Amino acid sequence: MKQAVWHAASEADTIALAELLASWAKPGVLLALDGDLGAGKTRFSQAFAKALGVPGVVNSPTFTIIKEYTGEHLPLYHMDVYRLSLEESDALGLDEYFFGEGVTIVEWASLIQELLPADRLELYIEHLGGEARRIAITGIGAPYLDWCDQLVKMGAGTE
Ligand SMILES: Nc1ncnc2c1ncn2[C@@H]1O[C@H](COP(=O)(O)OP(=O)(O)OP(=O)(O)O)[C@@H](O)[C@H]1O
Ligand SMILES: [Mg+2]
Repeated sequence: MKQAVWHAASEADTIALAELLASWAKPGVLLALDGDLGAGKTRFSQAFAKALGVPGVVNSPTFTIIKEYTGEHLPLYHMDVYRLSLEESDALGLDEYFFGEGVTIVEWASLIQELLPADRLELYIEHLGGEARRIAITGIGAPYLDWCDQLVKMGAGTE
């Protein structure tokens, strides 16, 4: 497990992180997002989708739970499990997404922690007021340990 902290002074800084992670993405990658209402989980997901070459608008999939998009190189599976119970989530066959051909982003991922693969990149977005956000990143397993190292090399903090 490794950690990095991305200090976003503005929305553009959150978008820059999403673009960077999208440039490293490959099949089976899992980004587990958490943070309060309005922290920026959906905004991050939108920037990530755009960077993957997904055309059109990516909205919060709160009412549909899972939305599948076609990126230029990779499919994107965008989930929001806020309104789901663990039992309902369990019945969705999420492993087909997690271990599929695309990249998965889960908003409110900690609510279904038991159902997530062990290897993942966790991003906890904390609202600091205005546009400022502290994004605490935890990498578990490959390739996420390397990603955290890269982020720290690029100037991300470690606390
Ligand atoms: N640094 C920033 N990073 C991300 N979003 C920001 C930032 N600064 C301002 N914003 C704004 O904050 C809002 C974040 O809303 P968003 O829907 O992404 O939150 P969320 O975490 O998905 O909330 P919810 O849990 O309700 O789905 C957006 O309107 C976005 O434009
Ligand atoms: Mg959201």
